[in-house]
Amino acid sequence: MTIFNIVTVPLLIPFLQILFGSHPKVLTKPQFSYDVDSMVQTGYYYISQTIEQNGQKTALAYICIGFILLFFLKNLFSYLSLFFMAPVRTGIVRDIRMKLFNKMIYLPLSYFSEEKKGDLMARMSSDVQEIESSILNFLEVMVREPLMIIGCLCLMVVINPHLTLFVIGLLLVTGLFIGRIGKSLRQSSGKAQGHLGNLIAMLEESLSGLRIIKGFNADKYQAQRFEKENNSYRDTFIKIMWKKDLASPLSEFLGIVVVSILLWYASGLIFNNQMSAEGLFAFLLAFFYAQSPAKSFSKAFATIQKGMASVDRVEKILNTPNNIREKKNAIKQHTFSNSILYQDVHFSYIKNKPVLTNINIEIQKGKTIALVGGSGAGKSTLVDLLPRFYDINEGSIFIDGINIKNFSLEALRSMMGIVTQQSILFNDTIFNNITFGLQDIPKESVIEAAKIANAHEFIMDAEKGYETIIGDGGGKLSGGQRQRLTIARAVLRNPPILILDEATSALDSESEKLVQDALQKVMQNRTAIVIAHRLSTIQDADEIIVMREGKIIERGSHQKLLDVNGAYHKLVEFQTF
Ligand SMILES: Nc1ncnc2c1ncn2[C@@H]1O[C@H](COP(=O)(O)OP(=O)(O)O)[C@@H](O)[C@H]1O
Ligand SMILES: [Mg+2]
Repeated sequence: MTIFNIVTVPLLIPFLQILFGSHPKVLTKPQFSYDVDSMVQTGYYYISQTIEQNGQKTALAYICIGFILLFFLKNLFSYLSLFFMAPVRTGIVRDIRMKLFNKMIYLPLSYFSEEKKGDLMARMSSDVQEIESSILNFLEVMVREPLMIIGCLCLMVVINPHLTLFVIGLLLVTGLFIGRIGKSLRQSSGKAQGHLGNLIAMLEESLSGLRIIKGFNADKYQAQRFEKENNSYRDTFIKIMWKKDLASPLSEFLGIVVVSILLWYASGLIFNNQMSAEGLFAFLLAFFYAQSPAKSFSKAFATIQKGMASVDRVEKILNTPNNIREKKNAIKQHTFSNSILYQDVHFSYIKNKPVLTNINIEIQKGKTIALVGGSGAGKSTLVDLLPRFYDINEGSIFIDGINIKNFSLEALRSMMGIVTQQSILFNDTIFNNITFGLQDIPKESVIEAAKIANAHEFIMDAEKGYETIIGDGGGKLSGGQRQRLTIARAVLRNPPILILDEATSALDSESEKLVQDALQKVMQNRTAIVIAHRLSTIQDADEIIVMREGKIIERGSHQKLLDVNGAYHKLVEFQTF
């Protein structure tokens, strides 16, 4: 493409020159040799021959055909270059996006309590796009323009090496100028992408909290917050545009400054007869030829700094270490057969702020234990440690006498089914929400699981039965229905260990009854850890553990704890009242 770009027009000029008589015809064939002059002369000879033999009109027709052919080739190659670049550009972006997604899914939960969801979304979308447009553009320029610049430089060296050296020195100084702009552009650009991340975070939060925003008449407040962030984004972006747009005019101006200094310097050489005037003229011409690629170079250099800011943000995610690691020879498969043991477990989210201290619990297979205690006592944290959502700081947890760190995460987590207070559902069919992540499940098994979870009836009442799409986060279902779907999901997996974290506390009494029934069925013959808000639901548990501020303060059966007349007794009394 570059070659055709350069040669198309110059190649036609000699034809026209001879045709219209501005260059004398060459009628004798020149001696052929490998220098420019003899090649040009040979060209002139053949053109003259054609005109002599076939007349001007036919020659012109040839020229027209040649013209069409050359431009066809030029555009064909320019299309081909884009054609082959398209898979490269989109492929790089696709790979980055895939890598980011995999990394985000792989990172532990603790990472996401530190980061804004919207900012991560911005990195995934607009930062990746920025990399596409600026960096890949730069690569294109890097391939295309150096040919031109190198050609011009060679020409300049041939004319006057001394002067070329002088010019290069001047160019380095101007390069420094442009480099400084690029550097500050990179900083602003990182800042702007951060603002964009905040914007998307706010948008995401607002959309999911619309009900509350409207209910609390907080529309204006939220809009103001958005406006403020929107304005900061704009302000930073103005600066970016100013800096970016400066690159091209600045490089042209500096180019002229270089030429002026050059003229002044070279005129000295001419007066001293160290250089001819024609030589200077040719030199300047070469210098001017190099200008346009140099300009697109400095422009690309400015934009790449914008792209680099995005690369930094993307890399920051990719380089985040995951502190929840699997051992090299981790156990890939295990059937739970004996017991779960928490031994001297200590844990804190933030250093020196213990959330759990000295926890010792043993759960035999088939037993149910219940955790009770005020909110913030550390109950959810305690069960989150079992599937290794977080790693404990001190002590160990064993399953069948094997430290849970020795299992692969998949083996460990496939032993348990988790039902939490917030029913996490996805905008998909009921069927896919129940089978979630499992493949080739027969419909009968799904229906059976739904029946156990007391969900089958309402599913059949829905518009399209199991194929009904339930909306964002299951928004088209009631709280109780959502909860029963999550239970069906846990039932279908048939895990030996069940973890129920306040699975019924978000429900009204009627749906709670249905869900409680469902849970009772599910817990039969299973090992279960139940966190319950309503104490009536856990009276039959084999052991009840009462927690306060991360410590176990009482433990035993319902009757035994009532007899002790302590914290549990008070809780029960309070609830019956
Ligand atoms: N991701 C987190 N980062 C920091 N602190 C947390 C996090 N999650 C919970 N906490 C703190 O840990 C304590 C116990 O929380 P949690 O286990 O959820 O209590 P419970 O389930 O008993 O209500 C609380 O004081 C809470 O503020
Ligand atoms: Mg909790």
